[in-house]
Amino acid sequence: MEKLFTLLEEEKKRQNEQLNLIASENFASKNVRMFAGSILTNKYAEGYPKRRYYGGCEKVDEIESLAIEKACELFGVKFANVQPHSGSQANMICYMALMNEHDKLLSLSLDQGGHLSHGSPVNFSSKLYEVHHYHLGKDGRLDYELIHQMAKELKPKIILAGFSSYPFIIDFKKLHDIAKEVGAYLMADIAHIAGLIAGKAIPNPLPYVDVATSTTHKTLRGPRGGLILTNDEEIIKKINKSCFPGVQGGPLEHIIAAKAMCFMEDLSPDYQKYAHDILVNTKTCNDEFALLGDVVSGTETHLFLLNTKKSFGMSGKEAEDKLAKIGITVNKNMLPFDEEKPAITSGLRIGFAALTSRGLKPNDAKFIAHIIHDYLKGDLDIYRASGLVKSITSRLIKVENI
Ligand SMILES: Cc1ncc(COP(=O)(O)O)c(C=O)c1O
Repeated sequence: MEKLFTLLEEEKKRQNEQLNLIASENFASKNVRMFAGSILTNKYAEGYPKRRYYGGCEKVDEIESLAIEKACELFGVKFANVQPHSGSQANMICYMALMNEHDKLLSLSLDQGGHLSHGSPVNFSSKLYEVHHYHLGKDGRLDYELIHQMAKELKPKIILAGFSSYPFIIDFKKLHDIAKEVGAYLMADIAHIAGLIAGKAIPNPLPYVDVATSTTHKTLRGPRGGLILTNDEEIIKKINKSCFPGVQGGPLEHIIAAKAMCFMEDLSPDYQKYAHDILVNTKTCNDEFALLGDVVSGTETHLFLLNTKKSFGMSGKEAEDKLAKIGITVNKNMLPFDEEKPAITSGLRIGFAALTSRGLKPNDAKFIAHIIHDYLKGDLDIYRASGLVKSITSRLIKVENI
C-alpha cells in the first residue's frame, strides 16, 4: 500500500514541477477533487433522478438534479445528461441515440484535428457507421463549401464538428444551415472548447446545434467525465435511453457531484476572467513564436500548433522528448496534411488552460516561447533551460491549492 501513497506524492511533485502545456489537461479545484473522492462512490443509482432501480437514492437524486440544473444554466440549454463516464462515451451515446448501424457520419478525421471517436478506423465509430471525412483547407481552417458539397452528395445522418486540435472558432451557424438543408442532425463535440464557451470567451454554439457532447475535465476544469446537452425534448429522451440502459450501467454519482461543483464554479465571474485569460496567454505565446520566426497555426482558442519540422528541423516526437528533459510537458500532434506517422508527427499542440489555472501571466507565456525556441534551436543548454523552467514553476500556484 505504501508504494501507492509514494506514487501519488511523486505524481503531485511532477505536476508542480513541470510546465504543463497539454491542451486537453487542467487542474481541478480542491472542492471538485473532494467530491470526486467522496463517499458518494459507494452508491448504486441505475436510472435517473426519481426513476431509479435501487433504493436509498434520495440524496444522489438531489445531487444529480442539481448537476443537470447547473449544466443547463451554464450553457443556456433546456436539457442535460450528466452521466457519461467520458467524452468518447458521450459520443457513443449520441451516435446510438440518433443513428442506426451503417448510417452515415460526416466528420473531420483524427489526423486533421478530429478525435478517435469521430470515425477513426481503429475506433468503434468506424465499425458501426459509414464514416466520411471532410478535410481542412490549405490554410488549416474549415472549408465550409466542401462540407456543404459533401453533405449534399452524401446526405449523412449526423454532421459532426468540434475537434481536438483545431485552433480557430467554428462557424456553427453556417454548419446549422448546411445540416438543415440536407436533413442531418448537427452534433457539436465541444470537449476542448466547453470551458471557453461557459466562460463566455467564445460564442456559444448551443443555439445552432441539435446536440452537443463534451468532456468535463479539459477547459471546463471539472472531474474526468462526459456531458451531453440539447434544447430538443425528443433528442434528450433518446439520449437518456441510449445512455442508460443502452451504453452504461450505474452512474458515477461521486463524479456527478464533482461535475455539479465544477458547473457552479464555472458560473462565477472569476471563472469568466479565467476563460478570457486563457485566450490572452495562448495568443501571447503563439504570437511570440511567430515573432521569433517559427511556424505556428495562429489561434482564437486555448491552443495552437507549432510546426517543429519547419521551425527546428525536428519531428514532433523529438521535440516532445527533448522538452520533457527540461520539465516542459507537451504532446506531439499531427499537423493538417502531415506526412509523418501519428507516432512521429511534424509538430506540437500547445495549450494554456492548465497553466492559466496555476496563475500563469502573459509575460511568462512569452518567456515560455523563448525557452522552447532557444532550447530547440540549440542556443540554450539543458541546464540553463531547466533552470528557467524552474524559475517559472516556482512562481505558480501549487496544484494541491487550486
Ligand atoms: C474532441 C474530443 N472529443 C472527445 C474526446 C474524448 O474524451 P475522453 O478521453 O474523455 O473519452 C476528446 C479527448 O481528448 C476530444 O478531444
